[in-house]
Amino acid sequence: MPNKSSFSYGAGFRSLTRETPDPVALPVKGKLPSWLEGTLLRTGPSKFEVGSRTYNHWFDGLAMLHRFAFVGGGVSYANRLLKSKAFCAAEATGKIAFGEFATDPCWSLFGRVAAIFSPKLTDNCCVNVADYARAATAFTETSIPVRFSPDTLETLGVFGYESPLTGQISTAHPHYDAKRACHYNYIADLGFRSAYRIISIGDDGAQRQVAEIPVERPAYMHSFGMSEEHLILSEFPLVVNPIDLRLAGKPFIRNYRWEPERGLHFHIVEKDTGRIVRSVTADTAFAFHHVNAFADGGALMVDFIGYPDASVIDQLYLARLRAGAPVSVTGKLTRFLIPLESDAPVTRKVLVEAPIELPRINYETSAGKRYRYLWGTGIKAEGDFLDCIVKIDLDAGPVMTWHVAGLYPGEPVFVPSPKAQAEDDGVLLSVVLDIGNDASFLLVLDAATLEELARAEAPHAIPFHFHGNYYGARP
Ligand SMILES: [Fe+2]
Repeated sequence: MPNKSSFSYGAGFRSLTRETPDPVALPVKGKLPSWLEGTLLRTGPSKFEVGSRTYNHWFDGLAMLHRFAFVGGGVSYANRLLKSKAFCAAEATGKIAFGEFATDPCWSLFGRVAAIFSPKLTDNCCVNVADYARAATAFTETSIPVRFSPDTLETLGVFGYESPLTGQISTAHPHYDAKRACHYNYIADLGFRSAYRIISIGDDGAQRQVAEIPVERPAYMHSFGMSEEHLILSEFPLVVNPIDLRLAGKPFIRNYRWEPERGLHFHIVEKDTGRIVRSVTADTAFAFHHVNAFADGGALMVDFIGYPDASVIDQLYLARLRAGAPVSVTGKLTRFLIPLESDAPVTRKVLVEAPIELPRINYETSAGKRYRYLWGTGIKAEGDFLDCIVKIDLDAGPVMTWHVAGLYPGEPVFVPSPKAQAEDDGVLLSVVLDIGNDASFLLVLDAATLEELARAEAPHAIPFHFHGNYYGARP
């Protein structure tokens, strides 16, 4: 077997523009569980060049949807570019037409108007997918989710654009509350008077505002936390003066400044009343991904993949990733204990030292509750990109790892087995890039043991991407 030095992960950031609109059966090695009947839908940045320009950052690329469908012990695959307004305008003009996370549009197309303000707010939903109001929906970090067909991957149009709940920035990580039959999210309304609006979107499509929190310098927040009764905004000190977004003429994220002296500010919102239960400042930290949150006595436990600062964003610029440059900043599972019934200070603890990102839990049984297991991608070879799958047992035991040199697994999506007795009884689905063979496959692992059950070979190499979700047979 070749050693690690034979590989450069840079190939994971090459554009994929080839579409497979009609599902193709994939060759399977191993045996898929007979109960696995459903669909894994994923999205990610996939087209990094438009005309003579290249997007600057991994988070900028034009979105591709991927669909792995499990039927009768086999699996099929299809993929299509999301036909967002951003994509269609780029196709029509041959130029980058909408501003993305770290890339400004071609100014000659629209004149020098701030990119995040309509009509140039991007709908390039390359970050996540969810069943929003019971319809397949792709998300980016603006307030413009886009619906698509879960069967054909056809783009169907913008979700809820007529909503009165205004704002420009949102997250691609809405939380689902099964008891209340709704998703929660937040929208940041940036302007002369800025505010975070916490919103709910019912399975019936009804949207309502849960709470509004005024803010002078809005923070970059990629996700938020949810317990059974509360929503937790973790306001990291990566903040922006909204006037700069209008006037500074820089790509979106470059207007944000790291101001660690502000600390990390938690806003705890009661779901049913919208009441701000506590706003409290802790020592500074940064994160993309919350893992889970739960009540414990009179306190909330809030877990996220914590970084000492926001420099990880700078490490994810496309040119350095394509060159295979080392990623030296890693996230760790970090727990914050936030007392709710006293003014006692917030305490924090790194629960596990091993690097982890793209965390997943058994959401069905454990979202908002005390939980035992999480899975994610980790780093086995120091300085490498995410090169393994890890399982963390919060009650006991060492971190478990699945790693093969030259294979780069993506986010492991947990699918519970239908008769599960234990929280980790199920499988993990992860799209893996095999650098040596310039090909990707869908890996199926036993979620309890990380033992390989099967792999299904995709018809092409799939660039590294972010998130997806699994949907069982629809009612
Ligand atoms: Fe994310």
